[in-house]
Amino acid sequence: MLRLLLPLAGLAALLRAANIPQRSFGIDYDCNCFVKDGRPFRYISGSIHYSRIPRYYWKDRLLKMKMAGLDAIQTYVPWNYHEPQPGIYDFSGDRDLEYFLQLANETGLLVILRAGPYICAEWDMGGLPAWLLEKESIVLRSSDSDYLAAVGKWIGVLLPKMKPHLYQNGGPIIMVQVENEYGSYFACDYDYLRSLQKLFRQHLGNEVVLFTTDGASKLYLRCGALQGLYATVDFAPGGNVTAAFLAQRSSEPTGPLVNSEFYTGWLDHWGHRHSVVPTQTVAKTLNEILARGANVNLYMFIGGTNFAYWNGANMPYMPQPTSYDYDAPLSEAGDLTEKYFALREVIGMYNRLPEGLIPPTTPKFAYGKIFLQKVGTVVEVLDKLSPAGPVKSTYPLTFVQLKQYFGFVLYRTMLPKNCTEPTQLSSPLNGVHDRAYVSVDGVPQGVLERGESLMINITGKAGANLDILVENMGRVNFGRYNNDFKGQIWINGFNLGRYWPARGPQLTLFVPSNILVSSVPNNITVLELESSPCSTQMCEIEFVDRPDINATTQYASNAPPLFVRDTWLNHL
Ligand SMILES: *[C@@H]1O[C@H](CO)[C@@H](O)[C@H](O)[C@H]1NC(C)=O
Ligand SMILES: *[C@@H]1O[C@H](CO)[C@@H](O)[C@H](O)[C@H]1NC(C)=O
Ligand SMILES: *[C@@H]1O[C@H](CO)[C@@H](O)[C@H](O)[C@H]1NC(C)=O
Ligand SMILES: *[C@@H]1O[C@H](CO)[C@@H](O)[C@H](O)[C@H]1NC(C)=O
Ligand SMILES: *[C@@H]1O[C@H](CO)[C@@H](O)[C@H](O)[C@H]1NC(C)=O
Ligand SMILES: *[C@@H]1O[C@H](CO)[C@@H](O)[C@H](O)[C@H]1NC(C)=O
Repeated sequence: MLRLLLPLAGLAALLRAANIPQRSFGIDYDCNCFVKDGRPFRYISGSIHYSRIPRYYWKDRLLKMKMAGLDAIQTYVPWNYHEPQPGIYDFSGDRDLEYFLQLANETGLLVILRAGPYICAEWDMGGLPAWLLEKESIVLRSSDSDYLAAVGKWIGVLLPKMKPHLYQNGGPIIMVQVENEYGSYFACDYDYLRSLQKLFRQHLGNEVVLFTTDGASKLYLRCGALQGLYATVDFAPGGNVTAAFLAQRSSEPTGPLVNSEFYTGWLDHWGHRHSVVPTQTVAKTLNEILARGANVNLYMFIGGTNFAYWNGANMPYMPQPTSYDYDAPLSEAGDLTEKYFALREVIGMYNRLPEGLIPPTTPKFAYGKIFLQKVGTVVEVLDKLSPAGPVKSTYPLTFVQLKQYFGFVLYRTMLPKNCTEPTQLSSPLNGVHDRAYVSVDGVPQGVLERGESLMINITGKAGANLDILVENMGRVNFGRYNNDFKGQIWINGFNLGRYWPARGPQLTLFVPSNILVSSVPNNITVLELESSPCSTQMCEIEFVDRPDINATTQYASNAPPLFVRDTWLNHL
């Protein structure tokens, strides 16, 4: 009997093994772990946002992440980056998400996809398209029918593209996030989370692990977590790891422990000190997390750049600068830092580090000073800036009403009476979003700024042109002020982002080498909104070989503007 039973048991085990598909990824609530291809699995991941790095550098950055010993990368999909106008989609060039996923796969990295619709991420409006605000009463991130209809359409475009890249389908994606820190939002609308869950399941099937991320406290998890979506937490180094994971256990009594955002650094704001998080603190807490077998994503592993108008803002209104360096292990320019090597050493205690050479830091080049020629004032070049001509309206329209979601709008009216004495011009209800340059017949009168300067005095004659040039400095990306109605350098047409050296802490802008050419002269266009020196003296910019994002300016709002803009250049 015994002899007969043994082969039978052996056969059963074999059958069970054969039942496990070759590529599978899921949660095992008995071992408190993930299972990949039938085996317990723990990931060490790092965040990289493809939208903040030129496509030209994707491969280099991914390889550096692989060489740090990471199993996976985590990335956000910014909805407004891919659907600039309702129903118009862009997945080309720097927006080619599928190519990015393919590169990750080729590099041997798994992917944790934070598909949205809302991402926060210090990104303009948290990734939500500004055109959603055309319906002024819209309640974002809720069951609001117009909001859900727009989400449904977008997700219906995005997820079918993602499905072939799921791990079980041969691709790198192991997990998909449906909402981001929803427990920190005021709405607490479970029906909304249920709608998202249904939508994601419809497009991706039942097998893929769907998850949410919230601050590590019961309070946040209360509205952020939903049964069927695996609840993960985020927390910073230096705190009590046991207590943080206990919070996750309040929502997930068993299953893998996951910190989806373990902060390697921190974000910056214009006019505030550059954030720095000591390497020792990060390394120590990372070791504590890994020692208990938990899964972790290092946010950010590389931060990158808010090119063009993509930066977000926090409330009370504080816009984020162009650099998203984040004091991360790989710098904004992808350079290997002391933090990179320290964290790699910790990771090496748990993962086998890949053999081979770490790609070196790319060389930088100081091209020196470039003298600029004045093209004209904003008013003089209005025809070029706004080829479509003016929009006439009785009352001022918002950017959204004008269907212009980024950049600048010039509001012009005539002074109705003689203002011989200084006369007040005010921004009632803090209505200027975010900064307005006021002039009368071309003579500068002052600046109105959201939360800072709500009233100025002007003088001028009846009938003079009153020009108010309003700049959108980035929409709020976090919290309940998402319904947010509302400086720049271009090289060869590529928008390097805003510069504001008078405010700091960032003084230099990162210039990726791929936007420069050697065959014809490169064209640099600077839009200077305050006290341009070019009319009265030589003005210049300088290409330097090291960044300065940690300036020790006096953080006063009325600091005089600096006339020399250091731009730093990455040259291969
Ligand atoms: C991902 O890489 C694996 C090999 O590691 C390959 O078999 C698979 O075809 C790749 N998938 C995609 C979607 O590129
Ligand atoms: C960390 O938190 C746990 C659980 O709340 C607690 O028991 C422990 O004493 C805390 N450790 C420290 C060093 O505060
Ligand atoms: C403004 O002042 C000028 C003289 O400087 C005068 O001729 C004109 O009538 C005044 N306009 C109004 C609307 O008061
Ligand atoms: C505007 O002018 C008034 C009266 O001339 C003066 O009292 C006030 O301080 C001025 N305000 C500003 C912001 O300059
Ligand atoms: C810069 O502008 C000049 C003159 O318009 C043009 O000939 C040249 O091709 C431009 N360079 C680039 C890289 O676009
Ligand atoms: C930034 O400045 C602070 C304070 O001066 C300093 O402690 C820190 O090391 C600097 N960080 C970098 C990256 O230069």
